[in-house]
This record gives sequence, structure tokens and C-alpha cells, in this order.
Amino acid sequence: MKNIKAIIFDLDGVICSTDHYHYMAWKALADRLGIYFDEVINRKLRGVSRMESLEIVLGDRAPEFSMEQKKALADEKNNIYKQYLNSMSPADLSEDVLYTLETLRKRGYLLAIGSSSKNTRQILNQLGLESFFDAVADGTQITHSKPNPEVFLLAASLLGVSPEEAIVIEDAESGIKAAEAGQFRAIGLRCKSNDPNSEISIKRLSNLLDIL
Ligand code: G6P
Ligand code: MG
Repeated sequence: MKNIKAIIFDLDGVICSTDHYHYMAWKALADRLGIYFDEVINRKLRGVSRMESLEIVLGDRAPEFSMEQKKALADEKNNIYKQYLNSMSPADLSEDVLYTLETLRKRGYLLAIGSSSKNTRQILNQLGLESFFDAVADGTQITHSKPNPEVFLLAASLLGVSPEEAIVIEDAESGIKAAEAGQFRAIGLRCKSNDPNSEISIKRLSNLLDIL
């Protein structure tokens, strides 16, 4: 890949396995409300903001709840989720991810996070990555979550690069769509969008090192 100066990583499901914690927290909420929820529904929540995720989880029952009640339900889920986050440490960073990040850093690439999560800073702190990235764009700084490209455009602008000079690494279809909508090249980690020709797919993060 030519002229690439920067790499923008999604967080949940790319740098760390917090996607499973999201699943368990949504499942606890759904069970309490008597709403069916499984891994297939959970996959639709990847890259999607907390409040939009709640609408998907509630499904047909969404109209039963007022805005205030929905905010309380989102808080309830987030409190369960945060209990899982509190148990995370640098040991939760896989060897593959660590090696890839360190090698890309040595090769001189600018590295950033582009995540819809409002818990991004806490997760980076728990993993010991609070000052590793050159820029962090997250859910606290954006109005529209993926598939809108806002978070990736913000990451690129914080790095001082154009979308053509950056690639985005994503595990979610909404994230691949967001990258493409922002004119970034996208690489899917264990993920492909509906258009099989639209992006490259890799099985593990270190496969990136062979492509760049
Ligand atoms: C990421 C995850 C989504 C999650 C969103 C908001 O994009 O992939 O599953 O819903 O962040 O996360 P938050 O931590 O703000 O609830
Ligand atoms: Mg993700």
C-alpha cells in the first residue's frame, strides 16, 4: 500500500475483546426485561452508539419506554459493562496486538483510535495504552456514530493526515462502511462488508504487517 502515513484502529473487537463484555451486559439487561437477545443480534451493535444499540436491543418493545426510561436502561447496561472493564489490565492485550502496534510504531506510522465508545479512555487506561496513540477520537467527541465517518475524519484531522493517507482497521460492518464513506481504505479484521471487492480482510492484526 502506497502513501500510507497513518493507521486508525477501531477499539472494541480490534485492540481488545470488549465486544464480549458488551454482549454480556446487554444480555443481562435483556434478560431482566424478558427480551430475547443473542450473539447474532449482538453483532448488529458493533460500532453503533449506546443509545442506538439500546433501540436495537429493545426492538418491538422500544415504544413502551419513555426517553427518560431509555436513558436509565442505557445507564444500567453501562454500569454492568463497566464492572467488566474494571477487571481489565495490560495482560488483556494480546501478544499479537502488542507486537503489531510496536512494530508499526517502529516503522514510523502515525497511530490513532477511532471508536464510537464513550468508555474509550477508561479502556486505554486499563490496558496501559493511555499515552501510546498519537490521537484518540471517541464517542465523547462525535455527534454521529458509525456508519457515519465522523469519528474517523476526526482521528485523521487530529493526526494531520488526509483520508487517502490513512487506513482504517475494523471488525464491524458499520465501521467498514464508515471508513469507506470517509474515503479511507478499510481493512476488515475477521469481517467483510456485503461488497466482497470493497476491502481487504485479515484474520489477525499482525497480518497487517505483511500488507503495508
Ligand atoms: C463501540 C462498540 C459498540 C458500542 C459502542 C458504544 O463502537 O463496538 O458495540 O455500543 O462502542 O460503546 P459505549 O462504551 O459508549 O457504550
Ligand atoms: Mg469494533
